[in-house]
Amino acid sequence: MSPTSSAPSLADKTFGVTIANLTKQFGSTTVLHDVSLDIQPGEIFCIMGPSGSGKSVLVKHIAGLECATSGEVRIGAFDAADPATREKVHLALVFQAGALFNSLTVYDNLALYLREHRLCNEAGIRERVMHALSILSLEKAVKKYPSELSGGMKKRVAIARALVMEPQLLIYDEPTSELDPVMGATISEIIATLREQTAVTSIVVTHDRDLALSIADRIAILIDGRIQAQGTPADFRAPKDPAIANFLSPVIDLKNPRFKQLENS
Ligand SMILES: Nc1ncnc2c1ncn2[C@@H]1O[C@H](COP(=O)(O)OP(=O)(O)OP(=O)(O)O)[C@@H](O)[C@H]1O
Ligand SMILES: [Mg+2]
Repeated sequence: MSPTSSAPSLADKTFGVTIANLTKQFGSTTVLHDVSLDIQPGEIFCIMGPSGSGKSVLVKHIAGLECATSGEVRIGAFDAADPATREKVHLALVFQAGALFNSLTVYDNLALYLREHRLCNEAGIRERVMHALSILSLEKAVKKYPSELSGGMKKRVAIARALVMEPQLLIYDEPTSELDPVMGATISEIIATLREQTAVTSIVVTHDRDLALSIADRIAILIDGRIQAQGTPADFRAPKDPAIANFLSPVIDLKNPRFKQLENS
């Protein structure tokens, strides 16, 4: 499978993202603490961090799905929290759980956005939908409903749906979780190839160290709602901070009695 064969004609303009002193509270719980990030136009920016550290909440602020308690998020010159920004910026968020419409087939899930925005006629829609499905090796799933798909297939459908939207800013939340290693590598390649072909700013939330180190221009690590470190992949190959080193390459104590028990059984 080659994502380079006939590229979708993505929009020619892309946007950087500026997050300034973003704090988010849910009730009395503070989930994001004074987060600041400057994501350059055209960059692949990976956000890593332990489960529950606030990664999905952070990217939902960029997509305008959460409102800051304090601080701000800007997409180019536009306020991410302003609903009018959606009219000006073509943003696609590939949700962690896919967020597909269960009552629609795969084809109709992909066609929905194009139909709603009257972006092309049915023949044009078919071409764009089938092209996106072929990039993700999903041609055989075209008539299936989400309930008939595996978790990994749903993830790929969600990415295909983002592609047909021809985004100017693309956010992936855990694009390779639930995928086998080969498909995970293919998705990494697709993210990198799309950015190469279209210069689209790509923000990738991931636990996948190999994905981040192989395709990111820069990486930020979020721990307990705070940016703990930022840098290039080279900076993270041998991190000095023990917390970062343990997150990226956790040491498993094989002398733990439980492992011994498994070993002997
Ligand atoms: N709408 C909400 N209301 C209250 N708490 C929330 C809400 N959304 C998220 N949280 C809390 O915010 C924290 C961060 O959640 P988030 O989903 O951003 O974690 P994450 O880093 O994406 O984790 P994972 O890697 O498991 O996806 C969690 O403690 C979660 O329970
Ligand atoms: Mg998450």
